[in-house]
Amino acid sequence: MRVLFVNGCIRGQESRTLRLCRAAIEQMKETLEDVTVEELVLDQEDILPLNSRTLAQRHELEEKGQFDHPMFRFGRQFKEADLILVGAPYWEYQFPALLRCYLEQISVGGLTFVYGEDGRPHGMCKANKLFYITTAGGPILDRNCGFDYIKTLCGNMLGFTDIDYVAAECLDVWGVNVEEKLQEAEEALRGKIMSWR
Ligand SMILES: Cc1cc2nc3c(=O)[nH]c(=O)nc-3n(C[C@H](O)[C@H](O)[C@H](O)COP(=O)(O)O)c2cc1C
Repeated sequence: MRVLFVNGCIRGQESRTLRLCRAAIEQMKETLEDVTVEELVLDQEDILPLNSRTLAQRHELEEKGQFDHPMFRFGRQFKEADLILVGAPYWEYQFPALLRCYLEQISVGGLTFVYGEDGRPHGMCKANKLFYITTAGGPILDRNCGFDYIKTLCGNMLGFTDIDYVAAECLDVWGVNVEEKLQEAEEALRGKIMSWR
């Protein structure tokens, strides 16, 4: 079981989201068989938004089917994983822009999805399960724009059928017991992962 951990926790070792992701990985190793984890630390990669030049280059390569080009390395890695874990803090009701740029890089026609004769996108990825972990300074309420977007993109376009998430909320609210909130989220995510057995 090849787990791809897309680490969008910009604050690195200080990140509470990263702490939850580490707990999730530990639980995956306990629950699932032969787990190997590939961690992609977005903050350490050269990931930029597409611009006119890179988009034109990408179209040309897509048309020729040259998906061995380095430009598609993130897409190839995503496509080959058996399970995707995404960790990202709740920023501006969503997640860090770096994660959005990454999602742009992996959403490649002919590599991770293809439009069928029915006019709809069909996923071409090996995995069908994606687990999303976030932490928020305040309450998320019905403004879960980051997870909603991930569900739309990965569910509708990339073909994932099993997309779930866990959040620890209100971590920056004065007087909140942060440790307790994190432990609750950890328990919740461990419970979810155990149910995958
Ligand atoms: C740039 C930035 C934007 C943020 N935007 C929000 C927000 O829209 N809503 C919210 O509740 N918290 C927001 N926060 C607070 C974080 O969600 C919160 O501190 C979170 O736990 C950070 O995760 P981390 O410890 O993994 O870095 C923001 C924090 C930063 C640095």
